[in-house]
Amino acid sequence: MRSPVLVGRRPELHALVSALDRAEAGAGGALFLTGDPGVGKSRLATEISSLASARGFARYAGCAVQPASPLPFGPVRETLRAAWRTGSLDKTAGDSPYGRVLASLVPELALPRQRHAEVNPLTVAEAMLRVLGPAGSAGSLLILEDLHLADPGTLATVDYITDNLGDRPILCVVTLRDDEPSAGLDMIRMIYARRSADLMVVPRLSEAEVEEMASACLDGDPVAAAAAGRLLGGCDGLPFAVEEILAAAVASGELEHQMDGWHLKDGISTEIPASIVGSARHRLTALGPQAAEIIAASAVFGRQFDWTLLPAIAGVSELDVIAALTRARQVQLIEPDERGHGWLRFRHNLTREAIISGLIPADLARCSAAAAAAVEAAHPGLPGAWCEWTARLYGAAKLHARAALLLLEAGGRALFRGALGNATQTLSAARSELRRAKSPDPTLAADIDEALVKALALTGDFQRLAPIVEEAVGRLEAARTEPRRRARLLLMAAHTESERDPAVAAAHLAAARAIADRLGNPVTSTWVDAVAARCAIDTGDLNGAEELARRSLASAEAAGLAGWAADVAFESLEVIGRRERTRDIPAARIAFERGAKIAEREEFAVRRIRALHELGTIDMLQGGDTGRLSEASEMARHAGAIAQSITIDLQLANIWCLGPDLARAWSAARRCEQGASLIRAPRIEAMALAAQSLIYGVRADREGARMAATRAENALPGDPEVLAATRGHGRVAASLFADDIQQALRDSSAGIWHAEQAPPQSPGLAWAFHALLQAVAGVEGRRALERARAAGAAVGWSQAWLAYAAAVLDGRAGNASHAAALADEGDERFRPYAPWWNHLVRRLVVEDAIKDGWGNPATWMREATREFDATGHRRLATACRGVLRRSGERVPRSGRGKAQVPVQLRRLGVTSREMDVFVLAVQGLSNTDIAARLFISAKTVETHIASLVAKTGRDGRRDLVANAGRLAWSLVVGPHTRYHRAAVPCRAAAATAVRAAGSGGSPSPLRRYSPRRSRRGQQPRTSP
Ligand SMILES: Nc1ncnc2c1ncn2[C@@H]1O[C@H](COP(=O)(O)OP(=O)(O)OP(=O)(O)O)[C@@H](O)[C@H]1O
Ligand SMILES: [Mg+2]
Repeated sequence: MRSPVLVGRRPELHALVSALDRAEAGAGGALFLTGDPGVGKSRLATEISSLASARGFARYAGCAVQPASPLPFGPVRETLRAAWRTGSLDKTAGDSPYGRVLASLVPELALPRQRHAEVNPLTVAEAMLRVLGPAGSAGSLLILEDLHLADPGTLATVDYITDNLGDRPILCVVTLRDDEPSAGLDMIRMIYARRSADLMVVPRLSEAEVEEMASACLDGDPVAAAAAGRLLGGCDGLPFAVEEILAAAVASGELEHQMDGWHLKDGISTEIPASIVGSARHRLTALGPQAAEIIAASAVFGRQFDWTLLPAIAGVSELDVIAALTRARQVQLIEPDERGHGWLRFRHNLTREAIISGLIPADLARCSAAAAAAVEAAHPGLPGAWCEWTARLYGAAKLHARAALLLLEAGGRALFRGALGNATQTLSAARSELRRAKSPDPTLAADIDEALVKALALTGDFQRLAPIVEEAVGRLEAARTEPRRRARLLLMAAHTESERDPAVAAAHLAAARAIADRLGNPVTSTWVDAVAARCAIDTGDLNGAEELARRSLASAEAAGLAGWAADVAFESLEVIGRRERTRDIPAARIAFERGAKIAEREEFAVRRIRALHELGTIDMLQGGDTGRLSEASEMARHAGAIAQSITIDLQLANIWCLGPDLARAWSAARRCEQGASLIRAPRIEAMALAAQSLIYGVRADREGARMAATRAENALPGDPEVLAATRGHGRVAASLFADDIQQALRDSSAGIWHAEQAPPQSPGLAWAFHALLQAVAGVEGRRALERARAAGAAVGWSQAWLAYAAAVLDGRAGNASHAAALADEGDERFRPYAPWWNHLVRRLVVEDAIKDGWGNPATWMREATREFDATGHRRLATACRGVLRRSGERVPRSGRGKAQVPVQLRRLGVTSREMDVFVLAVQGLSNTDIAARLFISAKTVETHIASLVAKTGRDGRRDLVANAGRLAWSLVVGPHTRYHRAAVPCRAAAATAVRAAGSGGSPSPLRRYSPRRSRRGQQPRTSP
């Protein structure tokens, strides 16, 4: 289980290589690598050894070991004997001035009479320096390992050597552990203090590096991430522990290699590897029996522990505790914890676990019970994290029912705070604890299940909710709890399921209504109405939903809007707001704002997120502002409200698809797809894929659009809403941006057929595309426009399409001035979105505008040409040029980038696309960010930068950016706001740029149309 690659360690390698460089230049030195056991000191030494070998260095190595009585000069002897064996030390060395010393250290070298010569550190060090003095090699590398174990002679030798390397081509690398005091450690600290050597503390690996290492150990298999999560949580960033734990997991069968790679097996748990346990126990034993017992009691408490509780737990005096902790601190088992006063922690989690695994079960239970009782006494009411902490201790004490009760309390608190992820985890743990109890209390079981259903319902985790609901209802019944609790549980489940599986939701609702009817309880009946309203709106029964919601709201108002009535009012207002949203946005805002007020009064965080979400949606619909929605998405993700967060991400992806920042749209769509697949919400997953298809479409990547659309259709086969999106948006956009209008018409008609079957409101985009395409094609345009309006498409971006569609129809009817006004309206409505939509639509209507005499066709086409040149939509740019040419208008020259190239850079041959890259590099963006911004690959950015560096004669990227002001002062003066807003990414543009870079110039993609101009491709662009 060894990682074939070195993970991380860039700064350390950098320091080592620099030291090697200096040695090669004749200025040698020493470098001490210290750190925890197994942190990777030797691995670094091996790495530098390979590098040195590649450079032609002679290498010598020795290692201190721990025998009963250390042999004087052990590592030095080993080094020399190894040199003898490999031939670096030959017999003639025995004849040198230090021959006698060498001979006594390397018996193979000696004549019989020289064997017992006197040696002292000074002569040994001089002899070593002589041997190391490289004969015929680039330099020498001496590696001495584990000097914390070295004998005093070796240490004194090293001390002398390090002071005498400065003018020799020798690098000496020393490794030693710093987790325990040692003479070696004292010595190197002294040497470092007098600046005779460098000292580097090798840090532990980060979590990401542990994951990377696990992956490398497991042949790069993706299970490594899961393995890192489950197995390696306690490895403390120690590479040694990573290897040992993985090897132990393979031995136990928890990690299994099969034909298709590594798999983690459930139901098997791996014990801490013997290699780790052994060393921890050894150190504990060395403390003496009483101290060992006290430290064991601390270990039971946790990795961090409050030592002031230890006297009560271990039943000893405070003085004894202090003495034990002082000793443990001296041998570096524990250290102060950042929580401050009273808190200490084990330096390694694994040490703590190893100590615990050494306790017999009865002892562990006794200690844990004592610790739990001590915490309860010290912290009445168990505020904050104490509650879970104590629950864990009771669990270890085998007092499972008490543990479950505390976990229920902790889970309830998390739920209240809106930390849904924590809540579900804690409540699931409560369930497991109670299962272990000998005779579990049925009421407690019912309480836990109820809370868990609530948490899962709020998280939106349908997957886990479904099986628990049945069980929980059964438990509540068995525990003879009040029937209305059962009804509430069923309503929660109905609420959660209503969007995903209306039939299941309806069944839950019917069961809840039956209970309410039997009880004749008005509160429960009002609750049923409120949830029924929600289910109705989710299934598209808008009027039914409104009626129910208004009824439940009225009951809640009558009850004074407090407690349950506030809850009901919130739910009802949400439904009313959604209903209003389809016909009267300001009325919807009023309803949601009332809901938000109620949520504010409530301590219940999830409601506040929901309120923010609804208001964010209204902002988005009214002005395209996504600030509040983004905030709600962030909050939902943070709280672990997955269902909420993916719904918001889908909305964001859908709106951002229409804006200029497609990278942002893409990441929201991907995040949504992944979250939806996690909780098995196929509709949202499919719609996220449909959004991806639209993004591909905008980039004129028809194949990408087709593939994403197919994935969406497969995620929820035969669903009209999904089909309306994939056929009606994704594929249509891909055809339109490739200027294939006929295909767009066919796709759009297919999409509309599905949109007719889909719930109202959903496919607004499809209706908008359809109305305009039908109007332009002269096929029932008026009817298509009316259908689109009736389908609720007359909002935001879609409304712009409808305005242009109406312009075409009015123009044809001879009302040119009205058509012109409608075109202006379309232009205005497109303003908050990416500019290419407006240009695309103008390109679609331009022939009509010319024919019927409205709008500004020539200006439109010139602007559109420039835009499409910049975005790389070559076909659209060509089409616009064609329109201009046919109308006898001036045709703008081709250009690829958006940025104006300053004259001095133009002289150097800098292209406008290179200028795009340059502008962003000067703003401090990394290549990856520039690539994302311009939708080109990082490789292409690199190519542009390299070309800029070459053309400007600078010394690399940094120099280029640092001297930007000198090259073109406009680069550093004045904001590039226009660029920021409109830097338009496009894969086709990337392809063009790559081709241009590959052919060493910037041939115009429009050569066919304007050969004369393309020859002047690098000349100033004429302003249109
Ligand atoms: N950065 C790393 N990437 C991949 N593997 C590593 C890395 N660092 C260490 N390892 C592996 O972890 C194991 C332990 O590392 P190493 O022996 O270098 O630790 P050490 O600090 O020298 O320990 P000790 O104090 O016991 O000598 C080795 O098998 C090593 O190959
Ligand atoms: Mg080592």
